[in-house]
Amino acid sequence: MRDRTTIPLEKLTTSISVNLAEDMQEQGKEFITLKINGQEYEFSVGSRLGQVAPCETLSRTLRDRLNLTGSKESCGQGACGCCTVIMDGDAVTSCMLLTVECAGKEITTIEGLRDPVTGKLSDIQQAFIDYYAFQCGYCTPGIIMTSKALLDKNPNSSKEEIAEALAGNYCRCISQYHVIDAVKHVAEAQRGN
Ligand code: FES
Ligand code: FES
Repeated sequence: MRDRTTIPLEKLTTSISVNLAEDMQEQGKEFITLKINGQEYEFSVGSRLGQVAPCETLSRTLRDRLNLTGSKESCGQGACGCCTVIMDGDAVTSCMLLTVECAGKEITTIEGLRDPVTGKLSDIQQAFIDYYAFQCGYCTPGIIMTSKALLDKNPNSSKEEIAEALAGNYCRCISQYHVIDAVKHVAEAQRGN
């Protein structure tokens, strides 16, 4: 049997960021642009104060630089789903992405779901309130973003498909049935049932 060598996550991230930093230097890139909740942000990349370091995660950029603290960081290792945001249509764990990797991408956070003019919550946010689909709420933004990405791709999602999509989002408080009912309600409303 082959020996499996486990590389510590920290080391892996450091080696990826060094490669990215070298690539960026070779390409003469000093700035990256990300579109977040419909707004373009340009970041200077480097290791000086105020710059986005090549090892900075998307989660840290969103929370610490842009004050978009709706998405939470819990495990920091891609295991709990609390930090989920939508990137180019897919639900992604922002603690596992380097910000420099996200250059040119379009990102939506929980703050981007409500109507920017009226402040009205999106249907899926409202459904979580109506169905009491949270308790402490720590995991809720991640669950909502995963559900939103699913329904955007497949508004006909069945109960089983919803449960499968949410398999990577952990909640230590509640019965998942409330969450599934809330998402199912939105799916049915979108289908006009
Ligand atoms: S904090 Fe990102 S997956 Fe847990
Ligand atoms: S509602 Fe508390 S962790 Fe999910």
